Amino acid sequence: MRVYVILPAAGIGTRMSAGGATPPAPKQFLTLHGVPVLIHCLRAFAAVERVETVLVAVRAQEMDRVRTLIARYGLEAKVKVVEGGENRQGSVANALATVDCADDDVILVHDAVRPLIDPGTIDRTIDAVLEYGAAIVGLPAVDTIKQVERTAHGAIVTSTIPRERIVQAQTPQGARFDLLKRAFAESEADEFSGTDESSLLERAGIQVAVVPGFSRNFKITQPGDIELAEFYLASAEKAAAEKAGTQ
Ligand code: C5P
Repeated sequence: MRVYVILPAAGIGTRMSAGGATPPAPKQFLTLHGVPVLIHCLRAFAAVERVETVLVAVRAQEMDRVRTLIARYGLEAKVKVVEGGENRQGSVANALATVDCADDDVILVHDAVRPLIDPGTIDRTIDAVLEYGAAIVGLPAVDTIKQVERTAHGAIVTSTIPRERIVQAQTPQGARFDLLKRAFAESEADEFSGTDESSLLERAGIQVAVVPGFSRNFKITQPGDIELAEFYLASAEKAAAEKAGTQ
């Protein structure tokens, strides 16, 4: 059994724009604590001993630049660059097509814009895939969740979904290679497009387990999110320094 990781990183980051004239840098290349967001993700996965290879899917015109970046941070032993697709699912499908996996190998997929993922959560996700066949990281909902109907002026509440029945899907999301391959093949045949791997696995009738997540593993999406991630990192460094000081 081997563990492969796919990082879809071919997005262009339009939601990050605050309305300025110049196009925003894709979120995965923004700098966080002096290091690109993508590199934070790669370091977390490279630190997990069981991870054999990480495939980063980027746009064709960025492949050379990303290879250089990976070499600069000394990550080339475990990380390979592949071409991305038109959407997240297409990027993951392209990466899946390049791997030569056994049915019982584990494939994890992680958004390249969740830089604060930690090796412990990655390890627990691998364990859950080995036990259940497929697993995602999910954050229990703290807000009351409403189902709505969109209107021209906003939305109208139609019902309340009990929050104990809700988790917010994060990444990594993973499955045994044979199950993920089947889920992708069925989605492609049906022209189904999903925003995560779990939705493809669910529609293929595959049970997906949930590994508890953390709010710090959020997706850099909007202006202000980099500042929030900087704050989390600074807090973690302060806590580590205080712990070292008391030992
Ligand atoms: O846009 P969204 O936030 O859903 O992006 C999630 C992940 O999918 C990001 O890491 C982004 O780079 C990636 N993506 C991709 N190929 C695309 C679009 C998005 O790999 N064509």
